[in-house]
Amino acid sequence: MAAMAISSSSATVRIGCKKSAFVSNASSSVRSEFAGLRRMDSMFDMGSSHCLFAQMQRNVQAVGNGCRGVVTMAGTGKFFVGGNWKCNGTKDSISKLVTELNNAKLEDDVDIVVAPPFVYIDQVKSSLTDRIEISAQNAWVGKGGAFTGEISVEQLKDIGCKWVIHGHSERRHVIGEDSQFIGKKSAYALTQGLKVIACIGEKLEEREAGKTFDVCYEQLKAFADNVPSWDDVVIAYEPVWAIGTGKVASPQQAQEVHVAVREWLSKNVSAEVASQTRIIYGGSVNGGNSAELAKQEDIDGFLVGGASLKGPEFASICNSVTAKKVAA
Ligand code: PGA
Repeated sequence: MAAMAISSSSATVRIGCKKSAFVSNASSSVRSEFAGLRRMDSMFDMGSSHCLFAQMQRNVQAVGNGCRGVVTMAGTGKFFVGGNWKCNGTKDSISKLVTELNNAKLEDDVDIVVAPPFVYIDQVKSSLTDRIEISAQNAWVGKGGAFTGEISVEQLKDIGCKWVIHGHSERRHVIGEDSQFIGKKSAYALTQGLKVIACIGEKLEEREAGKTFDVCYEQLKAFADNVPSWDDVVIAYEPVWAIGTGKVASPQQAQEVHVAVREWLSKNVSAEVASQTRIIYGGSVNGGNSAELAKQEDIDGFLVGGASLKGPEFASICNSVTAKKVAA
């Protein structure tokens, strides 16, 4: 069960809940006044979520009258920021980055994951604060064995990885992995207990041809056809034209696709999965644009490439979760 953090000047409570951010203040009139909160209409006309919402409202009321409530988005309770270091770094530069991350002040209401290159995972694992989890950037599709150059899920777990990134555009379009293979790799990782950051996103020519949704749906379907459950999946929407280019999607462009992804999940998987699965945005996110993006109600966090190589900037992106918080 997911958790939603609600803080107030006098109390902090954690309330078990399903996905969807909403207003903590017992007054429903607040809900249209703030950015960064999830829509109430589509998300809460579904059975179990509705009950949970009612329960949460009761719990919130119990926190105390007159509190100045501050609510984070809900979802599984937490904003999510991943740092994808890609094929960058040396022992020395990674040691410096780890020191910066260890010294950074990080908000509580955010799950943070970094994905070092395979060869440095052990170094990072033994020096990085436990506050930040470790992801691999890839994993083999099945059990290890005679697969030269591959790294198995079992090996990743053995060295302390909790996550793996699958479907990144560089693996799709540079290495040539197709959606079915990516779906199968994700399924294997999940069955072995490795959580998956599942990337989707369209190329520039696909966007220009009006195919953004079709491309994302095809990629989503391959995940949906294969994964045994969505419990440990975070979807990363990363338009290829925004990755490493400095051309970030506008908050509206990102929000539009995130809504479409959530609706696709609702129609093709279940309303519950649609409401529980975090959908994060990636593509030229930096310390200067993350807060505005974070305010979009369906943006549940970020996958960050270049800016994750600078500790203080990555920390400030993680802390853009505060843009989701609402003083009530
Ligand atoms: P970028 O990369 O932040 O450097 O654009 C994002 C990603 O590839 O995940």
